[in-house]
Amino acid sequence: MKKIRLGNSELNASRIGLGVMRMGTRSERDAQKTIESAISHGINFFDSANVYGAGKSSTAFGRTLKDAKISRDKILIQSKGGIVRGDNFKRVDYSKENLIQSVEDELSRIGTDYLDVFVLHRPDVLVEPDEVAEAFNILEQSGKVRYFGVSNQNSLDIELLKTAVKQPLIVNQLQFGIMHTGMIDQQIHVNMTDDAANMRDAELLAYSRIHNMTIQTWSPLQFGYFGGVFVDNPDFPELNEVLGKLADEYHTSKSAIAVAWILRHPANMQVIIGSMSEHHIQEMAEGDNVNLTRQDWYDIYLAAGNVLP
Ligand SMILES: NC(=O)c1ccc[n+]([C@@H]2O[C@H](COP(=O)([O-])OP(=O)(O)OC[C@H]3O[C@@H](n4cnc5c(N)ncnc54)[C@H](OP(=O)(O)O)[C@@H]3O)[C@@H](O)[C@H]2O)c1
Repeated sequence: MKKIRLGNSELNASRIGLGVMRMGTRSERDAQKTIESAISHGINFFDSANVYGAGKSSTAFGRTLKDAKISRDKILIQSKGGIVRGDNFKRVDYSKENLIQSVEDELSRIGTDYLDVFVLHRPDVLVEPDEVAEAFNILEQSGKVRYFGVSNQNSLDIELLKTAVKQPLIVNQLQFGIMHTGMIDQQIHVNMTDDAANMRDAELLAYSRIHNMTIQTWSPLQFGYFGGVFVDNPDFPELNEVLGKLADEYHTSKSAIAVAWILRHPANMQVIIGSMSEHHIQEMAEGDNVNLTRQDWYDIYLAAGNVLP
């Protein structure tokens, strides 16, 4: 598995990472198989969040690392905080206390002394950049967090954070995949009046490249907001036909082609897959070895129902 450098950090991460959002409900035996399978395919990067399964995913992940005797220095662990959820309340909270508490809770669930990356999960409209900066300084100085990043944030909000935060923000985790291409659509349809021209993503693609932030693509196989998987889905016949044809040509699976489509983009994105199945992880990891041509890439984009003016 090829590695990429996350932002301008020293982190050498597999360009396909495994998200453990869906691990909370797995048996200990199954969770161990999932992690061992990922590692056997060269995945060294794992992504979690304090809210996944209300903490159960990180706990299951940490337990698995221990059971499987996986050495901490062989892997990179990222977790996210900021979202606060209970039975009858929900908010995003970038207060110093909450950010520090989120990290400490994750360290104890995962059973580690430090996170390689701590990411702000979703924007807090009530953000006070100075307070975030104070929390980041404390977390960095105590050795609990090595690097910081954001998720689902637009470029101007990142600039706002940077007015106070001194650490580089090395990643932005965003939904992106064949069936979720807003960042590309707006680039292609610039200055037009159709829906695809709507600026929903605040030119994040160009911003991330200019500022050397690695885009981590979440839910690479999903359509809509957790609408389901498009691979082998009869609702997307044209797309599946093209994916199937390319899978045959490259002697691989449709999911590998879906991953390769993201990796083909020159922004050097990192794909965060979420499968818990050994077979699916193996299929997606094959995407690392597929180098799609420009024409393949555009064929897939068009087969997904997009328009190239
Ligand atoms: N920052 C954010 O706001 C945000 C939001 C959502 C997710 N994330 C991150 O992104 C990660 C990935 O999200 P995701 O789980 O939605 O990603 P995904 O890889 O697009 O979807 C994985 C799901 O698809 C299923 N699946 C069905 N057919 C499959 C096939 N042929 N190949 C592979 N998987 C197939 C998997 O089931 P099996 O397990 O049976 O394979 C699994 O339930 C999460 O774990 C999390 O770390 C971040």
